[in-house]
Amino acid sequence: MEDKIAQLRQMIADSDNIVFFGGAGVSTESGIPDFRSVDGLYNQKWKYPPETILSHSFFERDPEEYYRFHREKLVVDGVKPNRAHLRLAQLEQEGKLKAVITQNIDGLHQAAGSKNVLELHGSILRAYCSRCRRPYPAEEMNKGQGVPRCACGGVIRPDIVLYEEPLDNDIVRSAIAYIRNADILIIGGTSLNVYPAAGLINYYRGKKLVLINLSETPYDSYADLIIHEKIGEVFSRV
Ligand code: OAD
Repeated sequence: MEDKIAQLRQMIADSDNIVFFGGAGVSTESGIPDFRSVDGLYNQKWKYPPETILSHSFFERDPEEYYRFHREKLVVDGVKPNRAHLRLAQLEQEGKLKAVITQNIDGLHQAAGSKNVLELHGSILRAYCSRCRRPYPAEEMNKGQGVPRCACGGVIRPDIVLYEEPLDNDIVRSAIAYIRNADILIIGGTSLNVYPAAGLINYYRGKKLVLINLSETPYDSYADLIIHEKIGEVFSRV
């Protein structure tokens, strides 16, 4: 472990073109559960599987149940950025990190001070009407009761990408460009199981692919440096 941390520290010191690609594991040390760990959202008892509840057709069919899940499981009170978010923001400020590409919807990278954050799956800190697309503050959606409605009668929805919905093209294009041109690509806190997001890392062409994840991923054999440790812990030491 010491060797690997020292190696990563040196790689970071030598580069000014780092890109970070992350997922739910980046926020677990802030107290937000991930999806696929044993205590993650997908292993908790719920009336329907979370993939079903978090789908476009389910949202349309049963917004009531969707919002029960959303408020109980996606919204976590009082969360703060952890050492991984904070160090990534600092690396950007130092001119070393070019972009954070995240699958997370919690806004914690921005809360830590990161400016260039590409949110592949959107954010629960934004809301809009699913009928007229008028934007709304997220408070009522995240903290209120029942199904929030727009003045036009439409259902207000979170600005997140639900299953069955496409990713935003501009964000994907931008993410590909950053990954393709990166000197170092650090991937962390993601099981790399969800496409198309996970597939974006195939655009990396360099020879410094760093993977920081507690459990194994399908991409472990492609990594030039692999660290199976807590990501906040790792970033506090590089
Ligand atoms: P997953 O829950 O699939 O994977 C999280 C990974 O992070 C797991 O492999 C854990 O081992 C690892 N992990 C957890 N805590 C960690 C820590 N402190 N340090 C390092 N690693 C840690 O989450 P994602 O890969 O982000 O999509 O899931 C991708 C997408 O699936 C999500 O964006 C969400 C979900 O369905 C949508 O909602 C559209």
